[in-house]
Amino acid sequence: MRQFWIGGNWKMHKTIGEALDLARALKAGLPAAADVEVVVAPPFTALKAVAEVLEDSPVQVAAQNLHWAEQGAYTGEISPLMLLDAGCRQALIGHSERRQQFGETDGLVNRKIQACLSHGLGPVFCVGETLEEREGGRVEEVLSRQVREGLRGFSPEEAAKGVIAYEPVWAIGTGRTATPETAQQVHAFIRALLAEIYDKDLASLKRIVYGGSLTPETARGLLDQPDIDGGLIGGASLKPGPFIAIVKECVG
Ligand code: 13P
Repeated sequence: MRQFWIGGNWKMHKTIGEALDLARALKAGLPAAADVEVVVAPPFTALKAVAEVLEDSPVQVAAQNLHWAEQGAYTGEISPLMLLDAGCRQALIGHSERRQQFGETDGLVNRKIQACLSHGLGPVFCVGETLEEREGGRVEEVLSRQVREGLRGFSPEEAAKGVIAYEPVWAIGTGRTATPETAQQVHAFIRALLAEIYDKDLASLKRIVYGGSLTPETARGLLDQPDIDGGLIGGASLKPGPFIAIVKECVG
C-alpha cells in the first residue's frame, strides 16, 4: 500500500513571522498518523525558521525550487547543499509556474531532479497540461513528454524516489478542481507510463499526487480514487484549518 502524501506549497506568501505562526499551528493541529506523510514548502527566507519549529514533528520541509550545482556564480540561486543546511528534505521541481513564467524546460527539470537524487532530497516532480493542450486533445502527449524527459537517464531505484505531482495548469488557483474521474484518468495514465518506461513494481509503488484548487470539500472524492495518493495544495495550505482538514481526510 502506498502511504498518502500531502504537501502545502506556500508559493510566494508569508514573511518569516507569518510562516512561523502557520508552522506552529500545523504542529499543534496535525494528527500524528502513519498513513500520511505531510510536507510544507515555505518561501526560501522562512525555510530554516520553519524547519526548526517542525524539527521534532513528523512534518517535513521542502524547497519550492533549487539550482543543480552545489555552489558557484549563479546569482539569485539556491543550491541543494544550502537547502539541506536549512533543514529541507524534499524539493518541488518543475512546478508549472516555474515552467510557464521562468522558462523551465524538461531538460532543466531533469537536471534538478538529478541534483535532488544525488543529495538525498526527495523530488516532488510536477507535471501537468495547460487548458489549450487539454482542449487540443494533447493531454497524454504532453504528460508523456514531461514524464519521460523529466526522468530521463534514471534507474528504477532513482525514479522510485519522491513523488510525482499531477497539477493541471487550468486547475491551479482557479477554483476549478479536476473532477475525481478526470484526475483518476490521468493518474492511471501516468502509472501505466511508468510501467512502460520501467516496470510494474515501480509503477505500483510510486506515489502520484494531485494538485489544483484542492480544498477540504473536494479532497475526499479525489483521495478515494485508486491512483491518487495525496495532494499538493496551494491556496488551502496558507491557513492551518483547511490544510489540517485535508490531511485528516487521509487518516483512518
Ligand atoms: P492551488 O491549490 O492554489 O490551486 O495551487 C495548487 C498548486 O499549484 C500547488 O503546487
